[in-house]
Amino acid sequence: MAPKKSADRAVHGQYEAYPYPPRDPADEAKRLITGSPSGLAEIEHYILGRRIAGDGPFRALIAGGGTGDATIMLASQLAARAIEAEIIHLDISAASLAIAGARAATRKLDGIEFVQASLSDLAALGLGRFDYIDCCGVLHHLEAPGEVLRELAAALKPGGGIGLMLYGRLGRTGVYEAQSLLRLLAGDLADQARIDSARALLEDLPPTNWLKRNSHVGDHRNTGDAGIYDLLLHRRDRAYMVDEIFALAAAAGLGITGFIEPARYDPLNYLRDAALRKTVAALTWPEQCAAAELIAGNMKVHICYLVAADAARQVPLRPDMPEAVPVLNNVSPEALAGRLRGAPALALDFDGAKIRLALPKQAAEMAALIDGERDLAEIRRRLGKSGRKMAPGAFTRQFETLYKALNGINAMLLR
Ligand SMILES: C[S@@+](CC[C@H](N)C(=O)[O-])C[C@H]1O[C@@H](n2cnc3c(N)ncnc32)[C@H](O)[C@@H]1O
Repeated sequence: MAPKKSADRAVHGQYEAYPYPPRDPADEAKRLITGSPSGLAEIEHYILGRRIAGDGPFRALIAGGGTGDATIMLASQLAARAIEAEIIHLDISAASLAIAGARAATRKLDGIEFVQASLSDLAALGLGRFDYIDCCGVLHHLEAPGEVLRELAAALKPGGGIGLMLYGRLGRTGVYEAQSLLRLLAGDLADQARIDSARALLEDLPPTNWLKRNSHVGDHRNTGDAGIYDLLLHRRDRAYMVDEIFALAAAAGLGITGFIEPARYDPLNYLRDAALRKTVAALTWPEQCAAAELIAGNMKVHICYLVAADAARQVPLRPDMPEAVPVLNNVSPEALAGRLRGAPALALDFDGAKIRLALPKQAAEMAALIDGERDLAEIRRRLGKSGRKMAPGAFTRQFETLYKALNGINAMLLR
């Protein structure tokens, strides 16, 4: 498979020579890499608004799946819940597919189909429709991201959705300037010489250089040649501001149901001045997200979930719905209880931005009742039985505060 355009050939060649992220299939015996997008609980929260029903196999496309992080995580989580699934892992790079395939084999995950193809040819591949599509760190390397997102949207079943990761422009301040510099200094050299030049440059850059000053960008520090190449030598790489992502989604007929982690995208979490807070509170949600990005300045990626624009209001479920079932995400009940007990707020450090998220009085008791099965009506009943009876309104207010904090850090989801 040889793409026709020279930039496409260069991108393809990069991922044949330097599959990214670098992964050793033998490590599957030691740990499961989890993250966003594409955790099962996040898909249920931000896309389906319900538990996966099991009415036919759950079909997922991992578009530009690379060395397999999302595929292995999602397939493992589906298998753990005995959910029948068909996963297609598609990538243009045979080397990346081989690594992803070996990881799946190590874990004995069947039912994954590996397809070598370009996303630009998606419509012609006849892969059918999907409940979920992961597209993580890929669109910003394509010639026509908007067109490909439209094709992905067209490949969704009704009620399906997409988990997307795109680079954040402001948080990557300095990266694009360093890429320009390296094109100037080493653009015509062979790959290994370009990598050597990039390493030498990183050593020599003065502290005034924007890449040096940007402490948030560090992915290249422990990912070897592939990491240096991906960050500084990529042949096609662009980044997005939040408002551009809303526009990209809208142009594909999609609406955004949430960014991860939500608290980073709430400008009220950064501002203390009363007048500024009042102004910000009156903004629309997309404007608030855009403001948060401009205030924080440190978002180097944007992870979000998308569904058909006309369905975006129905998900996620809201914390005032008695039938909603809260689920803990990425945190053990014990660790959470320790963090909540007696604390008036969660104190967080989001890459240097210090944030406090208020907690309700009964945060620890409420959290202890979350088992992924009980709905909010049942949790309120049980809280009452333990001697702390609360009127529905009081319970909802307290739970909403808890939800805002824990969902804000992606530790609580609803289904
Ligand atoms: C930065 S990696 C991300 C891999 C994976 N999604 C992850 O998050 O770990 C980008 C991936 O996109 C793939 N890719 C680039 N252009 C592509 C295209 N036109 N069609 C399909 N895959 C493509 C590359 O081969 C590479 O594996």
